[in-house]
Amino acid sequence: MTSLITTPFTAESTAEEVVDGIDLAGRRVVVTGGASGIGIETARALAGAGAEVTLAVRNLEAGERTAEDITATTGSKQVLVAPLDLADQASVASFVASWDGPLHILVNNAGLMASPEMRTPEGWEMQFATNHLGHFALATGLHGALAAGGGARIVSVSSSGHLRSPVVFSDIHFRQRAYDPWAAYGQSIHFRQRAYDPWAAYGQSKTANVLFAVEATKRWADDGITANALMPGGIRTNLQRYVTDAELDRMRAQAGGGGPAWKTPEQGAATSVLVATSPLLDGVGGRYFEDCNEAGPNQPGTRRGVAAYALDPDAAERLWQVSVQTLA
Ligand SMILES: NC(=O)c1ccc[n+]([C@@H]2O[C@H](COP(=O)([O-])OP(=O)(O)OC[C@H]3O[C@@H](n4cnc5c(N)ncnc54)[C@H](OP(=O)(O)O)[C@@H]3O)[C@@H](O)[C@H]2O)c1
Repeated sequence: MTSLITTPFTAESTAEEVVDGIDLAGRRVVVTGGASGIGIETARALAGAGAEVTLAVRNLEAGERTAEDITATTGSKQVLVAPLDLADQASVASFVASWDGPLHILVNNAGLMASPEMRTPEGWEMQFATNHLGHFALATGLHGALAAGGGARIVSVSSSGHLRSPVVFSDIHFRQRAYDPWAAYGQSIHFRQRAYDPWAAYGQSKTANVLFAVEATKRWADDGITANALMPGGIRTNLQRYVTDAELDRMRAQAGGGGPAWKTPEQGAATSVLVATSPLLDGVGGRYFEDCNEAGPNQPGTRRGVAAYALDPDAAERLWQVSVQTLA
């Protein structure tokens, strides 16, 4: 049993504090969803440390605005914007085709949470397609660039939401699942229907983000590439657009643990930046971090730590194969 990685940083640490003293000059970074929420602060901290940062976004106007803001606050002229819609495989392929040269840090940050049932043109469930499949296609497409980076890192932004569901291989795309809509309120009346559960879909996609880090490290460590997953904390961003305030309050109350009830975006970006840059993680991969430290196993009844099913090497390998087949 390897020991957990601990750092001097905490839930209150900011992205800027975490990267303080680290020189990223000559390093090239991609941040997906870099024009909103914690993606902005992740990009800002990495640009401030000297990296060239590409904001991979579907809203180019927001991307340009964010790039200007980051340049104004950090002085970095190396903030670029490129189109990327993770739910559109042609868009991912075009991003990959236009990438030239090495890539040192890929931050798979973009995400969609608890949306109503939506599907891609292929019929794939939208949260799985965006949060996992799009990032899977992006990372595998950029594998050569990452290998050329020498010691490249992939940052897989997951969530404690992964505790809501493993990857359900028998029905990833919610074509047959039944669920009890009252169970979430502790009032199960055993009324089951074939329906879509937005939180189970989010949980499944976020488990996939952890499993991806496990298998990518196993497959690519010999190319110098490591991948780790993380929970950024709870941060008020556009992510909660599909969730009511009452539901959010209930979830925060259940979350438990230390630290502020809500993190600022600068604090929310800290664990991503730590996983992307900390020398303490040199050569380390396939692990799950929260509040700037490696997390231990989830204890039943809590919303902290990592589920055993999210680190399961067999599930990680199976997900990789299923993802390749799905995208073929
Ligand atoms: N905030 C939290 O409390 C929290 C907690 C746990 C985990 N996380 C994770 O942290 C990550 C960042 O979340 P956030 O809070 O910063 O949310 P956010 O402000 O909503 O940012 C998410 C980003 O993802 C982008 N995105 C969504 N669908 C996309 C697609 N199909 N193609 C390309 N980009 C797409 C969004 O683009 P648009 O602006 O165009 O929609 C946005 O830029 C997510 O992976 C989330 O699951 C957040």
